[in-house]
Amino acid sequence: MHKKDFLSIRDLSVEETHDLLDLAFSMKANPAKYTSALEGRGMALIFEKPSLRTRVTFDVGIHQLGGFSVYLSPLEINLGKRESVYDVAKNLERMVQGIMIRTFGHDIVENMAKWASVPIINGLTDFNHPCQAMADYMTMKEVKGALEGRKLAYLGDGNNVAHSLMFGAAKLGVRIAIATPEGFEPNREVIEYVRREGRATGCELLVTNDPVEAVKDADAVYTDVWASMGQESEADKRKAIFQPYQVNGALFSHARPDAIFMHCLPAHRGEEVTDEVIDSPNSVVFQEAENRLHAQKAIMYTLMK
Ligand code: CP
Ligand code: NVA
Repeated sequence: MHKKDFLSIRDLSVEETHDLLDLAFSMKANPAKYTSALEGRGMALIFEKPSLRTRVTFDVGIHQLGGFSVYLSPLEINLGKRESVYDVAKNLERMVQGIMIRTFGHDIVENMAKWASVPIINGLTDFNHPCQAMADYMTMKEVKGALEGRKLAYLGDGNNVAHSLMFGAAKLGVRIAIATPEGFEPNREVIEYVRREGRATGCELLVTNDPVEAVKDADAVYTDVWASMGQESEADKRKAIFQPYQVNGALFSHARPDAIFMHCLPAHRGEEVTDEVIDSPNSVVFQEAENRLHAQKAIMYTLMK
């Protein structure tokens, strides 16, 4: 059997997406059952960008499954510069049983997956952030119950997090509305894929430049930073452009009264979200952060068992 990787939610079947969520819930409810599930297995954690949640949850997660991790910081490998992606893959496959990578170009994780004989897990690229979206849908299901037909509104940049939420919505039958400034819409191919593949599950996709239209009657309102890692030089310019998409009390009031507020974190408080919203009882941002642990344990177990 060909080894499995976890590069994008797009690659999962509808059934596999549901199975991963079910397993994540089971691991959260019964952690003791899985303490030697990946006994002795090693996981390389390659980071070419900073991290809090991804690093800690993968590290803690593999230990909780009986395995161990080797952390490689942005200063270490220098993928493609100090050493080619091919050579890194051919080295690490002899040393560890799985590799997580956080990097810039999505082609880097795809090439790693092509060349390494061990599973590759995408811990964020410029194109997507699939582990995040799995944890987010786990959180939404935990709080709201069945996901089918629920409405998620995403405000801000049509970025990596938006793309993974869109792929997840297509698999899980979520209605998703994305509101971005003009010129910051999600990738056209992702939009077309979600419109086409989402029909089977009941997913509906709205892409708009109108934040109020997106938030109207939403069950969950989601935002992310306006300038992602690698776009720091654009941060000032983007602040003015993205201001109308700030999730504040006024915008949030267009959602359902019991709507939850979601954010992948780190948050830039006072920019994409106000304290009033992120600190409100409707906010589930730390529950999402915790669920990274459970969702990724389910992913590692599925790929490496
Ligand atoms: N949400 C997320 O991936 O956080 P980190 O960048 O801290 O890993
Ligand atoms: N879009 C953000 C997500 C961080 C978790 C970034 O890529 O920096």
